[in-house]
Amino acid sequence: MTRKLKLAVLISGRGSNLQALIDACALPDFPAAIGLVVSNEPGAAGLDRARKASLDTAVISHRAFASRAAFEQELHTRLSACGPDLICLAGFMRILGADFVRRWEGRIINIHPSLLPALKGLDTHARALEAGLQEHGCTVHYVTAELDDGPVIVQAKVPVLPEDTAESLAARVLAEEHRIYPEAIRRLAEAADIPPRTPCQ
Ligand code: GRF
Repeated sequence: MTRKLKLAVLISGRGSNLQALIDACALPDFPAAIGLVVSNEPGAAGLDRARKASLDTAVISHRAFASRAAFEQELHTRLSACGPDLICLAGFMRILGADFVRRWEGRIINIHPSLLPALKGLDTHARALEAGLQEHGCTVHYVTAELDDGPVIVQAKVPVLPEDTAESLAARVLAEEHRIYPEAIRRLAEAADIPPRTPCQ
């Protein structure tokens, strides 16, 4: 391994995927390290996980900005100061605009709880049950200006069982999310499939 990828992780809530990344980064042979955790929600439980792991954190509340553009400019400034190779969205509940995505092109990835391109958007587990799907899962993908639409990096499938509720299905998918998010980062690091890092874009 030459150099570890520097990650910035963006969260809004519970942070269980952040925790999976924290745990993976604690393994000596994992090819990435977390440089910054950003939350747009001051009360996000994930911030406590980050602090417990002694990670740098930033709270950028979208409510403090008059427009999405102003919020994203602040986000861009904070991220630029960190200089991440990859920005990992982990339950980050703000849609990122085309300008922001373009500035970090090829460097933003997301985890989504469905087998994309199926079930973009919210409430994927309830919708999987409503649609009578036999198979469901999760996807790590590149972020583009279209919601939940970028190229797939890794997917994992789980069965939908007859007795499933949205909660039981979510729990089965979440266990796979925690497995494939670190796996996706490992694959990208090994493929060297990331633009060279520049301090400010
Ligand atoms: C996960 O299901 C993720 O796929 C989705 O939001 C949820 C975040 O959960 N984008 P957590 O905050 O990582 O626990």
